Amino acid sequence: MTLRAAMSSSDFNYIRNLVRGQSALTLDPGKEYLVESRLDPLARHEGFPSYHQLVATLRFGPFRDLHRKVVEAMTTNETSFFRDARVFAMLAKSILPALVAGRSAERSLNIWCAACSTGQEPYSVAMLLRECQPSLERWNIRILASDISRNVLTRAHAGRYNQMEVNRGLPAHLLVRYFEQHGQWWEIRPEIRRMVEFRETNLIQPWHDLPGMHVILMRNVLIYLDLETKRTILERAGRLLDRRGYLLLGGAETTMNLDDSFEPVSFEGAVCFRRRQT
Ligand SMILES: C[S@@+](CC[C@H](N)C(=O)[O-])C[C@H]1O[C@@H](n2cnc3c(N)ncnc32)[C@H](O)[C@@H]1O
Repeated sequence: MTLRAAMSSSDFNYIRNLVRGQSALTLDPGKEYLVESRLDPLARHEGFPSYHQLVATLRFGPFRDLHRKVVEAMTTNETSFFRDARVFAMLAKSILPALVAGRSAERSLNIWCAACSTGQEPYSVAMLLRECQPSLERWNIRILASDISRNVLTRAHAGRYNQMEVNRGLPAHLLVRYFEQHGQWWEIRPEIRRMVEFRETNLIQPWHDLPGMHVILMRNVLIYLDLETKRTILERAGRLLDRRGYLLLGGAETTMNLDDSFEPVSFEGAVCFRRRQT
């Protein structure tokens, strides 16, 4: 039996700094096994005999697509439809009714899923809005969905999910209403896909061409970022968010002790964050 040597601290530190610099994702010491398990398949796919050779090539060249792919390989893309049902209940029962009442003159809504992974989150929002008809009929609604990873965006755009993915969180009546079955795949119907605009956006780089938002879902991404980056991103989200808008974070995330311009508001066991009115 041959035992493979563990990742060297020099390789690990190189990857750690690259990933941190490009995405603000933190890889703490002890995560060598994770880095290895994600670099190995990428190295093979790119034709390198081992990840060590891949790292050696990265070190001695200018930043290029290979570096981007390594950063992408380090992202965690775990997601599901209607992830955390209480958050979507709050959207349906509290946030949307308030926005519909408050914006009946403008009849427009901008919603941003700021780390959308493979698309289940923005499509959940789109289906929920569809279910709110007719109160949103003739409204101008934009759902923007972005992520740093091109891989997940390609999948999100395709809107194609396997049985296991649709089994996670998607109620059967919505599966039947909004998906078409093609062999072993379930494909989101064009009328829902058309509601979502996907784009590549790295949260630590400038957010180009984003309109003011009424709802920002920035869920389960801040947990992976360092403290200073969380602060900067929340501050920018606050500037983008309408005065009466809503920020939705993941269950383990908060603005508390990071950005006092937000205050938490609870609804039936879920929490959203609103700009403190001054
Ligand atoms: C765990 S998933 C969360 C998906 C979805 N929001 C949810 O809650 O189910 C985190 C996503 O954040 C993305 N991400 C990580 N760092 C990012 C960055 N700097 N800018 C934009 N997206 C990032 C990852 O690619 C990944 O798809």
